[in-house]
Amino acid sequence: MTKQGLPDGVNLIKAPKHNSQQSLKDAIADGFQKDPKSIPALFFYDTPGSQLFEQICKLPEYYPTRTEHKILTDNARDIIETVTGEVELVELGSGSSAKTRVLINAILADQSHLHYIPTDISTDFLLESSIALKNEYELLSITAIAAEHSDALRLLPEDDSQARLFLFLGSNIGNFEPEAAIDFIGRIRCQMREDDHLLIGFDLMKDHQVLFDAYNDKAGVTAEFNKNLLVRINRELGGNFDPDLFDHYAPFVEEHSRIEMRLISRCDQRAYLERIGQGFDFEQGEYIHTENSYKYTLEGFSSLCEAAGLKMQIHYLDERGWFAVGLLRKAGGG
Ligand code: AVJ
Repeated sequence: MTKQGLPDGVNLIKAPKHNSQQSLKDAIADGFQKDPKSIPALFFYDTPGSQLFEQICKLPEYYPTRTEHKILTDNARDIIETVTGEVELVELGSGSSAKTRVLINAILADQSHLHYIPTDISTDFLLESSIALKNEYELLSITAIAAEHSDALRLLPEDDSQARLFLFLGSNIGNFEPEAAIDFIGRIRCQMREDDHLLIGFDLMKDHQVLFDAYNDKAGVTAEFNKNLLVRINRELGGNFDPDLFDHYAPFVEEHSRIEMRLISRCDQRAYLERIGQGFDFEQGEYIHTENSYKYTLEGFSSLCEAAGLKMQIHYLDERGWFAVGLLRKAGGG
């Protein structure tokens, strides 16, 4: 055990207090002035929210996780062969690292040791999954970075001895509006060297009913995930929201090619947030916009990556063509 109470081979880097991440308080004060009112999606992932998201991944209607997992299982060898040479693995938004195991297995078939650098916004969740991984894989050393994506990129350990394979899976990129997605992929690119690769998962356009069902599940887990934001606001900002006075609704908005997660007010109501010292009014039928989840075409996503200076070397699809995983390199390199 190290002094942080972590097993040998697991280290933790935490984002400093004055990082670039907006506090919940500032995000709400800002987002509730907009029309429609909005909350940035990254606030979903407190510990209960991260656990609810894990449950979403297992829902029969929520195809992305399962589909991407299958794509990785079917192509892990090919991916690792394409990357060539010894690598270390950097994963942005690692969550439970479930799908990463597939790649770790493929890498450890070729090399005797692997440095894995998972990053996640939920420290508890990150540590729990890092420790579980270390227990499973003797040959792994782990540097866990507890930070939001952009901060995590800045906190990466400096080490140029090995090429890196960056992972950004699960269609997490889908949360960004197109301009911001280009910007963010560009930031990953800034951390990449000639020999580095980025493996990125993105969700594809498909039948609207399939899309709708994935975000409006019968068991109501996505509704609970969405309403957990209000529970979190109550706890952290001294709010008095009654989550039952909001309905979860997540339509596919065709003009933007995205699912929008919404919380619709069931009546005229006011919520008071002690820590902001202000009440906020909600009209019946008014909604809070809590997330965008973009759906792409293969061509659209490739050109988005090109705009960010990365070239898609290969892409992998499932049989139904519902989800895609792209392997990217710096444009012009190799
Ligand atoms: C984690 C952002 C990829 O957009 O599908 C799942 C989050 N929201 N159900 C997605 C989410 C509602 C998810 N991402």
